[in-house]
Amino acid sequence: MILCYEAAANRKWNSRSLFTPYDPLNVPKSVAQKYTLDDGDGRLYQLTSLINPSPNRPNLTYEFMGVTRVWRWTRERMETARQSGLVHQTAPGRVPRLKRYLTEQRGMPLGDVWSDIPPLNSQARERLGYPTQKPVRLLDRLIRAATDEGDTVLDPFCGCGTTVAAAQYAGRKWIGIDVAYHAIKVIEERLLGFPNPVNYSLGGIPHDFASAARLAEKDKYQFQWWANYLVGVQALKEVRRGPDRGIDGQMYFMNGPRGWGRILTSVKGGQHVGAKDVREFKAVIDREQAEMGLFICLNDATREMNSEAASFGFVETAHGHLPRLQIVTIDNWFRGKRPTLPSLGHVSREFFEPEKQQRHRVKRPDPNAPEFTFSFPGGKPDEGTVVHFNPSVAKREPA
Ligand SMILES: C[S@@+](CC[C@H](N)C(=O)[O-])C[C@H]1O[C@@H](n2cnc3c(N)ncnc32)[C@H](O)[C@@H]1O
Repeated sequence: MILCYEAAANRKWNSRSLFTPYDPLNVPKSVAQKYTLDDGDGRLYQLTSLINPSPNRPNLTYEFMGVTRVWRWTRERMETARQSGLVHQTAPGRVPRLKRYLTEQRGMPLGDVWSDIPPLNSQARERLGYPTQKPVRLLDRLIRAATDEGDTVLDPFCGCGTTVAAAQYAGRKWIGIDVAYHAIKVIEERLLGFPNPVNYSLGGIPHDFASAARLAEKDKYQFQWWANYLVGVQALKEVRRGPDRGIDGQMYFMNGPRGWGRILTSVKGGQHVGAKDVREFKAVIDREQAEMGLFICLNDATREMNSEAASFGFVETAHGHLPRLQIVTIDNWFRGKRPTLPSLGHVSREFFEPEKQQRHRVKRPDPNAPEFTFSFPGGKPDEGTVVHFNPSVAKREPA
């Protein structure tokens, strides 16, 4: 249901943009009666006049295809139309006419029910894996109907940024707001797909320890998303149940002859974090046979936590001798201290995009990796299912 409100007397409504192409099997009779000619390629057309309604246009009076008249267009434009096969002359000396194809007409004015834009299905190319994603054609239509080029469009619950993308395509300015950190990541990815760089500014993301602490206090799931992305996590994992308990995210790296290596993350945004949590995470890394782990917490690690991490020793990787478990504190992060990680940069994007994997035969190391459950209400999952997020696809699995 689309609700339409207007707030100002000078609101815009470009009803000329609200047309839908004719259904070739169901063209209204009054229109079908006009478009009776056929080129042989199935496209119907009618012949319309090329003569100017005003007889007094000396600059448009010239000879065209052997006939002198006051024409509708300049000689150049007429010539272009002729070369494109749009001008028809029944016999030499007869007045040429313009071919108007049915498919090029605006179509039918839209009514209250819009059935020409299907919802996104699971195979749709524009699908980003965001459960409530709307088709960009729908937002494009709404934006063009209610705004002009250069106007500003606000979507205060912008999700994966369909409105943002449609506004950008349509030459409008935009403001998108969403409470979910991953929504912003998805939008940023989406904007990278534009042919020209998109200029925008981003607000509301923790930029120092105090704002990170506020986020952790307000919403521990958003804190987890944010902290995972901060350290470079490429795949977010189910946190609350299932065999992957205890893992919040994971990063993959190329580990030379050993194949793919994995770095698991555990994120703790609370105040009461201690050596016991580090010990438990060590057991998770062992259980998972992962190469490394990052224990991410808000506050400074205690001496016991540090020695618990240090006692986990080192791992030999293609990138050198690296600590198996490192503690990343957000406080230290904002002081510029970074964990020592193998290079993650050359794990290609295709690795996480199953469609492209098939095309390029890129092997995904852990195809069954479950992803992080959405931390906000939204979408309409069937009863008993959980919607998972993955940078390119959403999967539904039994809860
Ligand atoms: C139905 S979705 C929007 C989908 C969007 N039209 C699209 O195509 O992706 C609603 C969004 O509202 C966001 N949201 C929920 N509560 C919010 C709040 N208080 N402030 C901002 N965004 C919120 C959710 O995170 C979710 O992404």
